[in-house]
Amino acid sequence: MVTAGGDAPGMNAAIRAIVRSALHNGLEVIGFERGYAGLIDDKFRRMGPRSVSGIINLGGTILKTIRCERMKTPEGLEKASETLKSHRLDGLVAIGGDGTFRGASELYKVSGVPVIGVPATIDNDVAGTDTTIGFDTAVNTALFAIDRIRDTATSHERVFVVEVMGRRRGFLALEVGLAEGAEVILVPEIEFRIEDICRKLKKARSEGKTSEIIVMAEGAGDSRAIVSHIGKETGYEVRLTVLGHIQRGGSPTARSRVLACEFGSKAIDLLLEGAKREMVGIRGGKIISVDLDYSWKGQKELDMRLYRLAEVLSA
Ligand code: F6P
Repeated sequence: MVTAGGDAPGMNAAIRAIVRSALHNGLEVIGFERGYAGLIDDKFRRMGPRSVSGIINLGGTILKTIRCERMKTPEGLEKASETLKSHRLDGLVAIGGDGTFRGASELYKVSGVPVIGVPATIDNDVAGTDTTIGFDTAVNTALFAIDRIRDTATSHERVFVVEVMGRRRGFLALEVGLAEGAEVILVPEIEFRIEDICRKLKKARSEGKTSEIIVMAEGAGDSRAIVSHIGKETGYEVRLTVLGHIQRGGSPTARSRVLACEFGSKAIDLLLEGAKREMVGIRGGKIISVDLDYSWKGQKELDMRLYRLAEVLSA
């Protein structure tokens, strides 16, 4: 087992589920440390039932994680493959996002050792699953913060631009924006013109609004430039808050923990059934599995229905 890429709340709950499900089925588990670097350098720990006690409620990952550039090289892959073979492992469960699964897929090609992906990222940008471990927690963490920002926005009659994570995709911004009742939501997938935003803000003021929240994904543009542009064009007081890594940490919500329990258990079931290269997922409330390559080759669509709903409801 390995956790790789950016951490996400609920990774520890997934580690626990994988270890306990595997032990329940008579398997042995080792956990590689510091992401794929642990496989390349053969740094691991044996995972008994007590090694995962008291972690279901903890954010981060007890196995630690890095974004491992060496795993993208033929030498790195070869060394990771040698490690898998030297331990005579029956399979690797990789917990992470699309980059993690791309690495796992390459590793399968080189080593022939079965790999199972468990999607965990606050970005929710993994194709083949409706949601990922950590996403719900990040949405709630961002909401908790913006609810407080709204108090100042209201009292000072200001516009607040709040930048949430998501450098390539806007799933987090969209759900946070809808749940917060934001007047404007900016995501990388949808082009926007700053003049249109200013027009919308002015219209809102002419209709009686006295403060506005703009939720933007970090990948949607230069938030500082947007703030200064809006301030100059409207004359309103505009402030920027960048939520940053606050969204990646903290205790996972019930939803993230339950998903982690289900995904971890399903990953072990898949290995026992002889799966070679699959990813666990959830679709329409059902726990499913898809070809691992679909997770990073496929494109997950932003829910435009939610985007339009947010526009209607923020009038
Ligand atoms: O992929 C998860 C994510 O949190 C993105 O939303 C964000 O852009 C990125 O990771 C930040 O990565 P790092 O912590 O390596 O700076």
